Amino acid sequence: RTVLLLNGPNLNLLGTRDPEQYGTTTLAEIEERVRVLGRELGVEVVCAQSNSEGTMVDHVHESRHRLGVVMNPGAYAHYSIALRDAIDAIEAPVVEVHISNVYAREAFRHTSVTAPVVAGYVAGCGITGYELGLRALLARDAERRA
Ligand code: DQA
Repeated sequence: RTVLLLNGPNLNLLGTRDPEQYGTTTLAEIEERVRVLGRELGVEVVCAQSNSEGTMVDHVHESRHRLGVVMNPGAYAHYSIALRDAIDAIEAPVVEVHISNVYAREAFRHTSVTAPVVAGYVAGCGITGYELGLRALLARDAERRA
């Protein structure tokens, strides 16, 4: 029982990228926090980050037998039909996370092509959103097993 924490393009720069929007916590620190929460809740969290659309698609495919995926697709959320189709193609649930409140930002961030095919969606909760996403995945899993 593993969960993939998947971060998309430019999120490797967290810590220094636009701290007004994204804070100053690095991706490595976020990954560690989510791994620790996973351990507390009894799942192994595997982490990946990619700046490439195809690699993101591959990670989604490879997660089909996992408990689920917590994913910040970055800008791909706004236009990647390939990523949308990959999420739709696997049975495992995906929870989409955005650190910032994308709806309070530029109009091009108001569209998510991935949102209609995900099991859950968190935006505007800062990096806590990743932990909320993991909790939501596990709650959903527990409910299904009950
Ligand atoms: C983001 C929001 C996207 O619009 C942006 O392209 C990102 C980060 C967020 O976490 O708030 O790369 O996904």
